[in-house]
Parts: sequence; C-alpha cells; structure tokens
Amino acid sequence: MNLKLKIWRQKNSTAKGKIVDYYINEISSDMSFLEMLDVLNADLIKKGEEPVSFDHDCREGICGSCSLHINGRPHGPDGGITTCQLHMRKFKDGDSIVIEPFRSKAFPIVKDLIIDRSSFDRVQHAGAFVSVNTSGNTQDANATPINKVDADHAFDAAACIGCGACVAACKNASAMLFVSAKVSQYALLPQGQVERKKRVTDMVSQMDEEGFGACTNTGACEIECPKGISVTNIARMNREFIESNLK
Ligand code: SF4
Ligand code: FES
Repeated sequence: MNLKLKIWRQKNSTAKGKIVDYYINEISSDMSFLEMLDVLNADLIKKGEEPVSFDHDCREGICGSCSLHINGRPHGPDGGITTCQLHMRKFKDGDSIVIEPFRSKAFPIVKDLIIDRSSFDRVQHAGAFVSVNTSGNTQDANATPINKVDADHAFDAAACIGCGACVAACKNASAMLFVSAKVSQYALLPQGQVERKKRVTDMVSQMDEEGFGACTNTGACEIECPKGISVTNIARMNREFIESNLK
C-alpha cells in the first residue's frame, strides 16, 4: 500500500518542531508499524536525509518504550496493544497517518518522536520497592499463602509496562493510572506491607513534583492502556493515600 505520513520532526528539546510530510510506497499489510518506519528511515538515509528518531527496544509489547501517538491515539487505532504490536493491516492504501510523540510537560521531547520518561523512573524510585531481604534465604513461592483474589489483582497491576500512554491519553496529563498500578501491586501483597504507608505518600508527592496533572475520572487512560490496567487501581491508591495520612 502507498501512504502519506505526517511526522513530528524536532531537532532537540529546545528547537521548534513541526509536522513534515513523507510519501512511502509498497508497504506490506503484514509489516509492523515500526517496520514501516524502518523502511521510511532506510529511504531517508539513501537520499542523504536525517532519519526519524523513535524509541523501541523489545518490539513485543514488554518494554514500554515505543511511545507513539498515531492518528490522535496513544499506540494507534488498535486496542490492548503497544505501537510495536500494531500492524499495517489496520490501515488502507492511500491513508494519511499522523505520527507524534506522547505529549506531556513531564515527558519533554528529546528528538523527533523520542520523549524523556525519566519522570516515571523518579516516581518508581520514590517507593516502588520492598525491603524484604530475600538474599541467601530464598523461599518456596508457596511459603507465604496469598489470597487468590489479591494475587490476581496484584498480578494485573504488575502488568503495567510504564509506557506512558495513560498520561498521553489524559486531558490533564495525569499519571494516576501508572502510579496507582505500582502502588497496588505492592499494597496487595504481604511483601509490600513494610513500606505501605510511606510508599503511597512518597510516590504521590513525587508524581506531583514531576508536573503530572490531577485525575478527573475521565477514564481515557484505561481505554488507551495497552495492558488493560483498570481505573479501580486509582480508587485503591486514593484509599491508600487517605489511610496513610490518618493519624
Ligand atoms: S498504566 Fe497502562 S498506559 Fe499507563 S504506563 Fe502502565 S501500561 Fe502504560
Ligand atoms: S518496543 Fe517494547 S513495548 Fe514496544
């Protein structure tokens, strides 16, 4: 298929960016979206032009680095997948595709489609760990019985890959879905109890410091999340936060 790509180009974090049009031909519907961008970049390099910078690593929906806003949606038109899992069969011959980086004050643009998500790392460093020492005395997985419902909810929350689509989808650029998934995965398990109160206050305070917006319960984050993280985690984090602040 032949396509018109409208891609955000920006030399560096301080330069002014703009949408640039590219035309690309003979794209197979079996290609992944990122393979299509690889073909574009090979063409650009052949012509002596600067290739488009975009983030990617695993290309199998695990690492969360392929953060692209495609035709107005984080990770594009398909549901429950990351950009690297999107295939060109979702588009048709003659389509125009608008490709932009995820936009948020807390995710400054590094170059073209690459954003700096170290704000997420700093939120994680504020509390997403446990102090239980397992070094040298590793136990069998079933040594600490865990209620099946709690284990399932903790596992679901732990599926978050830190991609940032929830922030990009939110009109307030809120990171509540991401932070609540991290808080929940520990709050529900015995190993997470030691730092439980401090964790939620520290992570929420770091989230605010990074400049993410507040949650107004719109729910766009849950719809665009490639891992199906539920907004019920946000409700749990709010409860955890209130309880941790009660004397
Ligand atoms: S909650 Fe979903 S959208 Fe947000 S960072 Fe985690 S996986 Fe990505
Ligand atoms: S490249 Fe790792 S999730 Fe897409």
